[in-house]
Amino acid sequence: MRVLSGTRPTGKLHLGNLLGALENFKKLQGEEAFFMIADWHALTTEYESHTQIADNVQEVVLDYLASGLDPEKCVIFVQSEVPEHVELAMILSMITPLGWLERNPTYKDQIREMKGKDLHTHGFLGYPVLQAADILLYKADKVPVGEDQLPHLELAREILRRFHFLYQVEIFPEPEAILTQTPKVPGTDGRKMSKSYNNCIYLADDSACVVQKAKQMLTDPARLRKTDKGNPDVCPVFAHHRLFNAEASAAVADECRSAQRGCVDCKLQVAAKMNEFLEPIRTRREEWKKQPEKIRAILDQGCRKARAVAQQTLLQTMRAVGLRK
Ligand code: TRP
Ligand code: SF4
Repeated sequence: MRVLSGTRPTGKLHLGNLLGALENFKKLQGEEAFFMIADWHALTTEYESHTQIADNVQEVVLDYLASGLDPEKCVIFVQSEVPEHVELAMILSMITPLGWLERNPTYKDQIREMKGKDLHTHGFLGYPVLQAADILLYKADKVPVGEDQLPHLELAREILRRFHFLYQVEIFPEPEAILTQTPKVPGTDGRKMSKSYNNCIYLADDSACVVQKAKQMLTDPARLRKTDKGNPDVCPVFAHHRLFNAEASAAVADECRSAQRGCVDCKLQVAAKMNEFLEPIRTRREEWKKQPEKIRAILDQGCRKARAVAQQTLLQTMRAVGLRK
């Protein structure tokens, strides 16, 4: 079994990234697993901003290691350090019909959502082609991702089928998405946790910051006084109890419904549970932060291992399309 996945380095990772995908990275390591930091993909939307994508790459590596990825059990590497990604993407771009890219639902959503950015570019339209190259280069059959990536995976399968049909070869297995139990992690405002909504709890947040953010969480809007009965089903705080305080969540819901619990205490309690969950991650993050040379060595080794596989697939692909004998 071959596993590949990636994360765009647009900032630090949050609980949504961890519970929505990274938990499965962890479970799948030990198989032949490749986890990259997709810096080319970050550039498709960040090309105008002067943020240093390279700094964010470091943050994502720290978050990977802090969440428990073990460089002995999986290959961690930076996409742009393995040039074969771009080369395979170029080949795949020759056979990908424009209509498939224009019809991609994620493409339209993102253009609408990222209002401040001009995403009417060749690079952004080709985002899924590059992602297909990432997956096919390693002949991955399992791709642990968040739910939002399903259309990209479908497109990758369509591209590989077209490749096999056009060149009458079978090079790539069909990649299958692997989702976690909690594909939708709510943010502090109850919407999906997402950097662009500014509702995230980051793996690197310290405990005071988590308490602060929990205090600002929205609650059942109809519950104005402590004596009002609450409805946990519409309360973002309760959604977090479900995730981080699962054993007690039935009791929490009862106490909320019968007005036996106040929202302030309820928030502090969920913050404590989140902090309990985040503490070991934070500790590991701090430890790794002190060892930049070791991190560089991990990425160098990852790059070597990834390239060894990537070069073989690229050569095979170049032969299939007639660029090499
Ligand atoms: N598009 C993915 C995201 O935004 C990141 C990504 C890039 C990826 N290449 C990939 C995920 C290959 C899985 C496989 O989260
Ligand atoms: Fe939400 Fe807790 Fe307040 Fe109920 S008591 S409304 S679950 S914060």
